[in-house]
This record gives sequence, C-alpha cells and structure tokens, in this order.
Amino acid sequence: MSLLEPALDPVPAAAPARPLTPQREALLRALDARTPGHSLPAPLYTDPDLHQAELELLWQRQWVFVGTSAEVPEPGDYVTLDIGRASVMVLRDDDEQVRAFHNVCRHRGARLVTEDKGSVGNIVCGYHRWTYSTDGRLVHAPQLGPDIDPACLSLLSVHVREIEGLLFVCLAADPPDDVEDVARVIAPYFAPHHLGSAKVAAQIDLVEDGNWKLTMENNRECYHCDGHPDLLCTFFQTWGLAEHQVPDRMRASHERFLLADAELAQRCAAQGLPYPTISDLVDRPLGFRVERSPMDAAGESFSRDGTRLVQRTLGDVDGFRMGRLGLHAQPNLWLHVCADHAVTFAVFPVGVDKTLVRTTWLVDADAVEGVDYDVDALTEVWRHTNEEDAAFVALAQRGVSDPAYVPGPYTETEAQVDAFVSWYAARIREEIVR
Ligand code: FES
Ligand SMILES: [Fe+2]
Repeated sequence: MSLLEPALDPVPAAAPARPLTPQREALLRALDARTPGHSLPAPLYTDPDLHQAELELLWQRQWVFVGTSAEVPEPGDYVTLDIGRASVMVLRDDDEQVRAFHNVCRHRGARLVTEDKGSVGNIVCGYHRWTYSTDGRLVHAPQLGPDIDPACLSLLSVHVREIEGLLFVCLAADPPDDVEDVARVIAPYFAPHHLGSAKVAAQIDLVEDGNWKLTMENNRECYHCDGHPDLLCTFFQTWGLAEHQVPDRMRASHERFLLADAELAQRCAAQGLPYPTISDLVDRPLGFRVERSPMDAAGESFSRDGTRLVQRTLGDVDGFRMGRLGLHAQPNLWLHVCADHAVTFAVFPVGVDKTLVRTTWLVDADAVEGVDYDVDALTEVWRHTNEEDAAFVALAQRGVSDPAYVPGPYTETEAQVDAFVSWYAARIREEIVR
C-alpha cells in the first residue's frame, strides 16, 4: 500500500478581502514562519489568541466527529459537546433521526442541557421552563405573548451527517460539501461492520496536557511506538513505513506483516470487503485515510495475544481473524474496527494546552457484559496506550512552550504528521480569506 503523502509547499497567502483581526493576522504570521517538513512554530501550540482564531476558522467551519449513533440509541437520548465556545447537543428525535442543536435556549439564552449525556422526553430549559420537542420545536412557553410565533423560536439546528453510524457535525451555515464524497468512499468499508446498530460497552474521557494538534500529530506516527508495549503485541510497528524505511530490528515483524497482509487481503476479497488503503489527507476539508490492516499474533483483536475480546462478531464478517479497519479523519477522529469490537477516539480542544480525548468501545448490541466480554479486558490495551500517549503529548507541550524550542524536521516515517500539519495550514489559509 502507498503510505507516503506528498510534502506540500506552503500555500501562498491570498490577499485578504477585508482587514483581519489582530489574532488572525498573528495566526497568518505564525503560518508564514512555518518551514515545510518541520514541526509547527511554537505560537501555534501555545498562544491563546491564536487558539481562539483557530477555533473560529477551523473548528467552527469544518465537519467535526462527535461520536457514534450507538451513543444515542433511543429517542430522547442525547450527548453534548463543546466545540470551542459552542455547546452542541446531539440527540435522537422521536422519529429516530439524529439531530444536532445549539444548546442555547431561544428565550434568554440559558444553557439548556448541562449534562454530558442523558435522555429527555422534551428539552426543558431550567430557567423559565420553555420546552422544546426532540425535533427542536418550541412546544411550551408560559405566558408567551399572542403576537409571538413559537414557530420562529425553534432551537437553532446544527448540520449533522451520519456515515454508517459515525456522527459528524458542522457549525457553519454552509458546511464543506466534501463530506458526501468522503461518505461515498468510506461507507463501503464500514457498512459490513454495522456500527450504527452497535452498543457502547465503555467510554473513557482523558484530558491531555497538550494542544489538540500535538494529540493528532502523535497519533499519526508509530515512530514513538516503543513506548506502547501492550499495543505492540498486535499492532505492527512498521505501520506507516514504506518498504525501504523498515529498520533491521523490525525486519522479522515486517515479514509477518507481509504474510498476514496477503492473507487478510484474500479473506476480505472472499467476503467482498474493500481492502485498498485510500488516503486523501491534505487537499480536502475532511481529510481522511481509510485502511484495512492485519494485526500481529492471533490477528483478531487488541488483546495481548491477539485473540478476540468479545465472543460475538460485530457486524456481518466471517470469522474473527479480520485484522482492523482503520479510519483517520481531520480534524479530530481516528478509529479501529476489529471483527469483535470497534474503538473510536474523538479529540476536542479544551484550551490551548488542554485536549479531551474521548475513547468509546462498541460491541454487538446483543453481546452481554460478563458473558461475551469483560469491560476491563476489552479496554485494557487502549487504556494503557492512551495514558502513554497522554504522557508523550504532555512532554511535547512542555517542550514547545520552552523558549529554546525550534521546529525540527520530520523523519521519513512521519509523512502523515507532515500531511496533517499541511492540511491544517491549508485550511486556515483558505478560511481566513473567506
Ligand atoms: S432562558 Fe430558557 S426559558 Fe428563559
Ligand atoms: Fe501513541
């Protein structure tokens, strides 16, 4: 499979149509100071003003992964998420459609729902009891004047798109339309796994002490994977390496990978499952990469010996030795789907140097905890791996905050990190002149 993204030169700055705010000018200057093929200049990881500009230009204009439909399985079920200063409520309405709303009352603006997740019959504001149905209509407002039309006071909706059980929202009035292109490409990979009808077995929130880009960059390379002893039981450390980049010490593992890769490709072909890696990380708003890849040892799941962690398959796959289906989508998602479970990772900035990583494990809806799976065992490898990654991200944040930090060169093995920061720079430059 092709693993290298082309290195891009910085996109020339177009002349802004109107004067930029000082924060946006500073953001542009920081991007101008970027050297292609190198880590980003420090202010892009550390400056609160640049972070605020980034939230407005990127997080409030791009499609953002918010979770899975399994998190809102029944009518009235909801989750809330903060995207910058905006609180978004994602819920399933009484007709079982997933909707998203700004979590702001149409009366005097009170925050409507204050929990991270829950279930409601109607959405009732805690201030003066204005009440909204699950499709957002204002259905009760005590003493509302007769000349005020409640139909004009529905909740403000947010664009939401479900792709095979994966939920994305976009806060922009005119979202990038490439989500449909991405859906067309990735849906055939995900459809057999039935994520849309899975159930949540576990969810863990971890706040990392680093900028969100450091979290994403860290995920885009396995250069640091010696720090993940549990993960390396099944995750081939040569992931992301071209043939000529495989070091001698990984040669034996790489030979196992090549054999397992060929076997898995055959098994997928026999089941009609698409196999080629498709990578379009830099040029489109919803940069993505989808891949199937074998796993080491027993090749079934993220356990220490590679054997299944759930005794029921998730979706319509024949057998458990199916490796993993991986997806990376920018700005904030990566995930793995094995035959027995899926695990998704959603990244949300909390502050310039704080990032929430929400990890969710999905299993077949009929799998029974304690019978078909054990939550501790199911979550163990990624709990450990997440903690290890959080420590790496915290180290990186401390380093880029040091006056001595100078952006350093990416190695050949960090091509996907380079692709990520190139995507980031291109999106900011596009949006800053819109
Ligand atoms: S602010 Fe919500 S009912 Fe008054
Ligand atoms: Fe890692």
